[in-house]
Amino acid sequence: MNVKSIAAKFIPAKIKKAIKFKKQEQIFVAGYQTFLQTGKTSHEAYMSIINLYCATNGTYSEQFNSKIKLTNPPVVISGNLQGVIGNYSLVDFEKVNTELNKNGYSHFDKKLSKEVCDKLYNFALKTSARIPPSYNEKITYNPEKPLAEIYRFDLNDLANNPDIQQLMMDPVLLNIARNYLGCEPIFDFPAMWWSTAFQKQASSEAAQLYHFDMDRVKWLKMFFYINDVTMENGPHCYIQGSHLPDAKPAEMLKRGYERIPDEELHPYYKPEDVKIVCGDAGAIFAGDTKCWHKGIPLKKGHRLVLEFEYTSSMFGTNTQKLEIENCSKEFREFCNANKVFAGNMNLKKD
Ligand SMILES: [Fe+2]
Repeated sequence: MNVKSIAAKFIPAKIKKAIKFKKQEQIFVAGYQTFLQTGKTSHEAYMSIINLYCATNGTYSEQFNSKIKLTNPPVVISGNLQGVIGNYSLVDFEKVNTELNKNGYSHFDKKLSKEVCDKLYNFALKTSARIPPSYNEKITYNPEKPLAEIYRFDLNDLANNPDIQQLMMDPVLLNIARNYLGCEPIFDFPAMWWSTAFQKQASSEAAQLYHFDMDRVKWLKMFFYINDVTMENGPHCYIQGSHLPDAKPAEMLKRGYERIPDEELHPYYKPEDVKIVCGDAGAIFAGDTKCWHKGIPLKKGHRLVLEFEYTSSMFGTNTQKLEIENCSKEFREFCNANKVFAGNMNLKKD
């Protein structure tokens, strides 16, 4: 044992914790500066986002987002907006934002049309996707013969789909994200995947154990059910209000960024705060997936979900920009008029 390690034995735990925190904060701040210059986040800096989130039970991320907001002020919307979930007034937006802040999720009455659901469903049957464990090769999903618990579509295949592009530029959904993030949202990515009954027990690959997402400092997701989702085919499940600072059990956060079985997490929350989201094809809801959440394992059938992520900053996981080859005229105009929204996309030249 050297002098340093002998001395470390006598440092009180509280001081050790403070030193560790300070070190993580330095990595975070330096990593953010590098990100501003290069657009890249080092692995160390990315880990510091998670470590500081866990060490402060969410407070650090919220405080840091307040700083990000100052550099990226939101566009001011002064009247009603029309979109896929209806005509929203400023009062309607305020209602949704209050709900998101309080519960972490908001569910909308209006659904995607049957026509759009059918088009996306058929697109998903025809387009090849990637399966675990390697996600290397692309195969099309055969509902009669699933080969994995999850089939994930490539983001660029989705971002080039005209129906998805139409939804990406939905002004109501964008404004909900704008209000929640408190800044001009960047469209981070579209995702879509089949969940199947290939494996009846909870799969970590298919996010069927409780976890919280932590790829960015702050984000909001939109979920679209493309087929009917019942208790049988894997409804999304979340713990209401668990996105808030100090709302996660310290014992769980001490374990770091881990997936947690129901029986370990449920005792900390009221049963009525565990929400299971069943819904018909076309159902739309917004969620801050800092909330504990998971997909319930499927008993039969399959589930097709489309998901969008909006974020306040790309600081976090490094991703490739979306490559938009097939760009509708409208989408190009929308991206040109909304530079921050399109900040994570490369649009092919006309
Ligand atoms: Fe997740």
